[in-house]
Amino acid sequence: MKRRDFLKFSLLSLASVSSFGEDLRAKSLIVFYTRSLNSYFVADFISLKTGFDMLKIKTQSPYPQDYDEMVKRVLFEKQSGFKPALKPISLRLEGFKNLIIISPIWAMSLASPIRSFLNSFDFKGKNIMPIFTNAGFGVGNALNIMKQECPNANFLAHIELSFELFERKIRNLRALNLAKIKAKQSILSKEDEQKLHAHLEFKSFKKF
Ligand SMILES: Cc1cc2nc3c(=O)[nH]c(=O)nc-3n(C[C@H](O)[C@H](O)[C@H](O)COP(=O)(O)O)c2cc1C
Repeated sequence: MKRRDFLKFSLLSLASVSSFGEDLRAKSLIVFYTRSLNSYFVADFISLKTGFDMLKIKTQSPYPQDYDEMVKRVLFEKQSGFKPALKPISLRLEGFKNLIIISPIWAMSLASPIRSFLNSFDFKGKNIMPIFTNAGFGVGNALNIMKQECPNANFLAHIELSFELFERKIRNLRALNLAKIKAKQSILSKEDEQKLHAHLEFKSFKKF
């Protein structure tokens, strides 16, 4: 590698640091949207480890429960860039420096309720750490869409968590997950937990 290329590479690496660094002690918020509850497990785990508050994004109109109907809906929203109306959010953004934003991947893109959320605030001066939950097919253009919706935010490196159980195979995924929540079980594997530990550096958080 030429010296100039090496420097360019080093700067690029610096641009995508994963931790909140010095901003760690500033107030942080976990924002998530979930339909079949996978993303809820991730939000809950991080909140338990860090003590950060959680904000759940909810849409005004519910999404179809039927998977095939849902796929049609998602493809329409992706093609048209549709942003669903959200239930009122009481968030004083000035109270937070860091946001961990957890979104499912829909049709190789960002779940549109998260798109609506990002479009509703000005994230100037905020650090955003995206976490994408998916079924292992990749995250497509989700990160680019996030950056488009909040160009003023400072994006930290994102993390992906893949869950084998996917609605195409398991139509009652939400009910299964709900039963696990009631039984105080998690869907996160040891590897998932270690990945989150390493990425978020839990040991540096106030709670530890
Ligand atoms: C309509 C729809 C489209 C999906 N598209 C993808 C995809 O393109 N790639 C992928 O890996 N997973 C995809 N998934 C799987 C979800 O991203 C995954 O199950 C996610 O963890 C669900 O999050 P939630 O349970 O918090 O709603 C899709 C799921 C649905 C319902």
